[in-house]
Amino acid sequence: MAPAEPLLAATGISKHFGGVVALADVSFDVRPGEVHCLAGENGSGKSTLIKVIAGVVAPDAGTIGIGGELFHHLTPRQAIGLGIEVIFQDFSLFPNLTVAENIGLAAQVADRRKVVRPRVVRRIAAEALERIGVRIDLDARVEDLPVADRQLIAISRALARDAQIIFMDEPTTALTWREVEALFRVVESLKERGVGLVFVSHKLEEVLRISERITVLRNGVVAVTGDVTRFDRAAIVKAMTGRAVTDARPAESVRSSEQPLLEVEGLGLQGRFKDVTFSVQPGEVVGVTGLLGSGRSEIAEALFGVTPADAGSVSVDGRPVRLRSPQDAIKAGIGYVPGDRLTQGVFLDQSIGRNIIAGSLDRLVGKLDLVRPGLAQRTVDETATGLRIKMSSADAPVRSLSGGNQQRVALGKWLARDPHVLILNSPTVGVDIGSKHEILELLQAKSRDGMGIVIISDDVPELVAICHRVLVVRQGRLVGELSGEQLTEETVLRELAA
Ligand SMILES: Nc1ncnc2c1ncn2[C@@H]1O[C@H](COP(=O)(O)OP(=O)(O)OP(=O)(O)O)[C@@H](O)[C@H]1O
Ligand SMILES: [Mg+2]
Repeated sequence: MAPAEPLLAATGISKHFGGVVALADVSFDVRPGEVHCLAGENGSGKSTLIKVIAGVVAPDAGTIGIGGELFHHLTPRQAIGLGIEVIFQDFSLFPNLTVAENIGLAAQVADRRKVVRPRVVRRIAAEALERIGVRIDLDARVEDLPVADRQLIAISRALARDAQIIFMDEPTTALTWREVEALFRVVESLKERGVGLVFVSHKLEEVLRISERITVLRNGVVAVTGDVTRFDRAAIVKAMTGRAVTDARPAESVRSSEQPLLEVEGLGLQGRFKDVTFSVQPGEVVGVTGLLGSGRSEIAEALFGVTPADAGSVSVDGRPVRLRSPQDAIKAGIGYVPGDRLTQGVFLDQSIGRNIIAGSLDRLVGKLDLVRPGLAQRTVDETATGLRIKMSSADAPVRSLSGGNQQRVALGKWLARDPHVLILNSPTVGVDIGSKHEILELLQAKSRDGMGIVIISDDVPELVAICHRVLVVRQGRLVGELSGEQLTEETVLRELAA
């Protein structure tokens, strides 16, 4: 059977930002009823290509053919009018509007309604959320919601408009398998209706499962394109990186010492979690996993004083500490890389360098209370190199980095500080597969140097690869602990599904 005429064909697209070539002569098309996956390392040009097609970024060269017409560039309004819908990597929701408004208003605007009826807005929003089978309070303000909910809202908003071509730029980063399954069911039904979908994800299992075709970008150039049946995991990684990538080594065992680094005793927060007791030895990596809403992130936020606990006690290095605010936690030697890094973890308009040293200013200050420039520079260089941050210069704003490289800056900020205990929420979300192992190994090296590490995650292979122990949270309580030979992908998944 000959492949159907593409719904959209971008041809010879090039784009540079200053001296950075983001795209060079890229051609890419989308056929009705298919999922076309766009893969590539962080900074390879995936989001830029999507932004060009969505009319957000004007290309230097190339054409976009759609609906029998040829465009040199599109405006966002034109793109929407042509049935193109994008779930952007940063979701681009309106934080101070409600859930209903974010989903429903967009649909009304697309229909060019002059009068907006709140009842209609609510109905559209309710239906869109229903389609992906999630319950989120329609009247909640988006800024008050966790990142996973925001991702689901962005997806619902795209679905609420009758799009012909839907681009999903890492739609599943914050979701656990349950929501991913629901999303994939929606994708199947969209395919049956002839919608063309473009899917970006660093989770290769998802890519292999959901897509018909795959195009791999490397440094802004198409490295390979073809039917997904021609690829396996190793072939995709090879095309992305130009090399074979080995998996992270499993964690070596730790000697238990007399004095745990972190001791958490009966920690609780009304309505969120209760009776949380565990400890972390020097050099130990402890995982905390659970489904969305299980309380796993709230426990982390309590330990960093973001949302303080109202019961229990915490000690660091044997000294009891009060964690009423992040300042308290930092003073106690606790560092925290939040899950929602792009709004909480970094200052997007500040330079990469400033962000990296922002957490360590006190360590970099010399006698006269001045930051020692040499030391600061060395810290920035070492961090950027260690995390392989792809940047033109450390003076560039974080906003100019690709999504995965922004994530690395947030990580780098805390690694540079060398806290006693580092709590990381989903440390490798959005990071490409090649670098993921490197980041895990970097964390392992830090733990070998004596840092205590707590990883909140539901990336099961990652937890098994790096953790000495994994604690399972369900409905706000620690319900299980896996370690040693019991700690396998199977056992963790079974605990999660229970
Ligand atoms: N507004 C901008 N200003 C300057 N450089 C930019 C801008 N947007 C993107 N770039 C650069 O273009 C390159 C491609 O970035 P892009 O965001 O397309 O990568 P990506 O493949 O989506 O990566 P990721 O997987 O990390 O999201 C990167 O080097 C990035 O730093
Ligand atoms: Mg991107």
